[in-house]
Amino acid sequence: MIQLKKIFLILVCTSVMWSCAQEKNGFDREIERKIDRLVKKMTLEEKIGQMNLISFFNSNIDQQLADGIRNGQVGSLINVVDPALVNEYQRIAIEESRLGIPLIIGRDVIHGFKTVFPIPLGLAATFNPGLIEQGARVAAIEATSTGVRWTFSPMLDISRDPRWGRIAEGFGEDTYLTSVMGMAMVRGYQGDDPADPTAMAACVKHFAGYGAAEGGRDYNSTFIPERVLRNVYLPPFIAAIQEGALTVMTSFNDNDGIPSTGNRFLLRDILRDEWDFTGFVVSDWTSIYEMIPHGFASDASHASQLALEAGVDMDMMSFTYVSHLGELAAEGKISEKWIDQAVRNILRVKFKLGLFDNPYVDEQMHKQVFYAPEHLELARKSVVESAVLLSNDGTLPLDASKTKTLLITGPMADAPYEQLGTWIFDGEEQRTVTPLTAFRQLYGNAVRILYEPGLAFSRDKNPAGIRKAVAAARKADAVIVIVGEESILSGEAHCLADLNLQGAQSELIASLASSGKPVITVVMAGRPLTLSREKECSNALLFAFHPGTMGGTAIADLIFGKEVPSGKLPVTFPVSSGQIPVYYNHNRTGRPFLGNETFIDDIPLKAGQTSLGNTSFYLDQGIAPQFPFGFGLSYTSFAYTNIHLDKVLYGKKDTISLTFDLTNTGKRSGTEVAQLYVCDKTGSVTRPVKELKKFERITLEPGETRTVMWTLPVNDLAFWNLQMEKVVEPGQFDLWVAGDSVSGDPVLFEVY
Ligand code: BGC
Repeated sequence: MIQLKKIFLILVCTSVMWSCAQEKNGFDREIERKIDRLVKKMTLEEKIGQMNLISFFNSNIDQQLADGIRNGQVGSLINVVDPALVNEYQRIAIEESRLGIPLIIGRDVIHGFKTVFPIPLGLAATFNPGLIEQGARVAAIEATSTGVRWTFSPMLDISRDPRWGRIAEGFGEDTYLTSVMGMAMVRGYQGDDPADPTAMAACVKHFAGYGAAEGGRDYNSTFIPERVLRNVYLPPFIAAIQEGALTVMTSFNDNDGIPSTGNRFLLRDILRDEWDFTGFVVSDWTSIYEMIPHGFASDASHASQLALEAGVDMDMMSFTYVSHLGELAAEGKISEKWIDQAVRNILRVKFKLGLFDNPYVDEQMHKQVFYAPEHLELARKSVVESAVLLSNDGTLPLDASKTKTLLITGPMADAPYEQLGTWIFDGEEQRTVTPLTAFRQLYGNAVRILYEPGLAFSRDKNPAGIRKAVAAARKADAVIVIVGEESILSGEAHCLADLNLQGAQSELIASLASSGKPVITVVMAGRPLTLSREKECSNALLFAFHPGTMGGTAIADLIFGKEVPSGKLPVTFPVSSGQIPVYYNHNRTGRPFLGNETFIDDIPLKAGQTSLGNTSFYLDQGIAPQFPFGFGLSYTSFAYTNIHLDKVLYGKKDTISLTFDLTNTGKRSGTEVAQLYVCDKTGSVTRPVKELKKFERITLEPGETRTVMWTLPVNDLAFWNLQMEKVVEPGQFDLWVAGDSVSGDPVLFEVY
């Protein structure tokens, strides 16, 4: 009897432990029971229908699509954003399909919906996860008011190549910064409870390695060894999944020969088995089908089989699952168990979003939330914090009381559509505040504003307007020239080999400089550009990324000093595209650049054939970038002193406590992004020269000093070694606290 009781107790405890573990990993017992009941009732065709995602842009009801939904052949829709249409399709799914399973409505809400925020690369420059979270919340409130409950964001692809147009959509080159920003976006989109009608499921993408496309050319192959994948490219994904991200999108690239959409190692071994991901995996647009041109699948049926086996739950726009999974199952080529798993993953997300209880949207709600004043103010603040002051000889900020006449010029000065950036399906140029409008509205009473575009658009090469702009400059006290890239020049499939300003923009700036008037150059672009000539010709250079709806207001406020710049670069700016890849956290080489090398102009004629004295650098451009990662100026200055660690020797389970004094040494109040970098001096494999481990925005009044206290768990120094284990290796480390990735003196500590 006692023995029996014991066994019973063990069984109960094991099942409680099991269910606790399951709930912790994203399984909810109640939801799982509902899924069990539903899946049992589903035909194979209905299951495959749930795995089919269709895009529809029409503004009227489409009968063929309606029939597909009615017959259980369509599980989700993207790009339907009219609430009445969303409700009608949803009604057909709920009332007219056999099992009444609701649709998920998706959309690429990448940096805002109606109120457009700076592009994600710009948001990263704020180094302010709290602000990013609030911005994502605003995007979710606006998008869900139309019935959209799923966004294909955040993009967590690390990119170290600004030629790649999609660098605009991510958070730059750093793994830690991308992880922190990605988590913030997931929190903002999904809110506290994904079932809240204002919550949107996040979709972390593109899994994985897409940003390492060879040569920065979109859709190109990547060659990322597993250790680099784990150290550099995967951490943002696991961080976002641990934060609760409900869905994952595969990437277009093949890594070392395996397209991500057919990569079982990524999608099953890592995502499911190691990370316990319980949401669903969606292919990228036609990426199942694209395994055929990749030369990885022989035909559409083979592609479906490979994708399903690899672990892709939902097919976006390849139509291969609906066309082939049925026959593959009948032929015994795929197991129905895998189809069931995929369907369960999809239904789980639908239950978590509360769609079964609350499938419809209030059709009037969007009128209350689009462009709400607090949304616009948050967008303005995001631009203020994202703009990076790259150079300034003291010309900025302008004093409105001393500037009588100001010339506004440049093709981006009054280009409302072009300042919105990539992925702005829903942004509206009529609601966008351009710099010209803002300068006129906000400062037009105090300052006489002249406007002469100089060039009609960013690629314009016609010099006629330049002459007019220079003539106008002569009549002004200062010149603001706003240049950059049109929206379409960055983003998906918009890669560039040459990163100089397009068209005659560089000539425009140089000609304006020849007028002798102070020239302030503002760049609105989707990627780092090569700006050495522009820096030379300008008294100040402000990089505003594509700033979105409120760009103009924020830029005007920054230029007249109502606001103080505080953005820092989330990505290295090269001197020329020949330097790419150039990123701060590269591995240590055996012959690092020292600074006393012989450059091209100093090489004597008929120099002997020796490499001695030379290092890892370019004869013509050295290795220093134009602007390093983490860099950004303010209207004030900051000093870091008394950097102190609580110990010199730490155990692997210890936490480092450090303090430093940060002083505002200038004459204005300002915000500094203090950054902590570490270098593991000797490893079982070579380690990066520096890695960002922590940062904080700190606001100080002129003359104020604050003693800042930070902690860093030693465990944060862990990396994946050759045995593919994540370890902290004992040895010496250097630590820097500074305002960018190149400043400061190292402090030594040791881990035993
Ligand atoms: C892009 C994805 C995007 C999807 C849906 C694809 O072309 O690569 O990032 O989410 O389209 O629009």
